[in-house]
Amino acid sequence: MTTARNGPPPSIASSFCGLHFASPIVLLSGCVGFGEEYTRIEGFSNTDVGGVVLKGTTLEPRLGNPPHRVYETPMGMLNAIGLQNPGVEHVVSSILPALDFGETRFIANVCGSTIDDYAEVTRRFDDSPIDAIEINISCPNIKEGGVAFGNVPEMSARVVEACRKVTGKPIITKLSPNQTDIQTNARYCIEAGSDALAVINTIMGMAIDAEKRQPIIGNVQGGLSGPAIKPIALLKVHQVYQVAGPLGIPIIGQGGICDTNDALEFIVAGASAVGIGTGLFYDPLLCRTINSGIGDYLARHGLEDISGLIGSLELPGPTGAPEVC
Ligand SMILES: Cc1cc2nc3c(=O)[nH]c(=O)nc-3n(C[C@H](O)[C@H](O)[C@H](O)COP(=O)(O)O)c2cc1C
Repeated sequence: MTTARNGPPPSIASSFCGLHFASPIVLLSGCVGFGEEYTRIEGFSNTDVGGVVLKGTTLEPRLGNPPHRVYETPMGMLNAIGLQNPGVEHVVSSILPALDFGETRFIANVCGSTIDDYAEVTRRFDDSPIDAIEINISCPNIKEGGVAFGNVPEMSARVVEACRKVTGKPIITKLSPNQTDIQTNARYCIEAGSDALAVINTIMGMAIDAEKRQPIIGNVQGGLSGPAIKPIALLKVHQVYQVAGPLGIPIIGQGGICDTNDALEFIVAGASAVGIGTGLFYDPLLCRTINSGIGDYLARHGLEDISGLIGSLELPGPTGAPEVC
């Protein structure tokens, strides 16, 4: 549908959990370090993005996994960095003071091996200028034999609940696709106090060197990201929006977004903001191109901003059982 519209040009700015986003684009955790190294790219401006999610941060410093830590796959990449980071104390006292909070919103990415770890890292960020806290529930729970917190709704909710108690800042819970029922997980996280959801984190995979008969990734398994996971991520955003949308809980849609059309598809599926991670390795200035593409789309469709587009997917009528083959 194309409708000409008079008046000022459309705005790509939006409000997310009460935060002003200059653009619906968020740069994703693990793909931009702690923000400062990314700003060195010639031509990049923090003002081109709604927010920057910092690298996953743990209570203690971590050196990360043995190599190889990344491996390129058809249409994507596997990574098992192992949450290399200098620890929350260093991030809060030495890295955050160097970031320009006037330029964009900075979001912490909180990780832990126990629920107490998550709560303590969140508490430290609560006492800092960080704008919001994303909880990465995909970390292994060492007290439950290493199963990821995010794979079990009850465990996910306990993490969110513990973090909720120690911060008044917006909490964004990052859901894992490596589970049977992401809608139930979303519901539990919202009930536990999450203000927003990020959908999805990477999908577990592996690569093998057949000559050596060895895994290529040092950690054996890694998270698959990039265009290869986009159809899965879109479906998960669509499913989570059924639960979160009616409650007014916004979603940061992510997984393989590499151009304007990808971003628009996620917004139509129900995302209020879109994350770019692996796409930045192909083109670090992708956000500029996508911002301008979204602006053109809004103008062409006679829309003032993206609000009318979020979750605007038109579904066919009832088609019977959802079998696909
Ligand atoms: C190299 C790399 C490191 C990542 N590190 C983190 C991390 O520390 N915390 C986290 O929540 N997600 C991490 N992710 C996942 C991304 O933030 C993102 O959710 C995922 O890659 C899907 O988006 P994409 O396909 O656009 O990359 C990482 C991804 C990559 C590729």
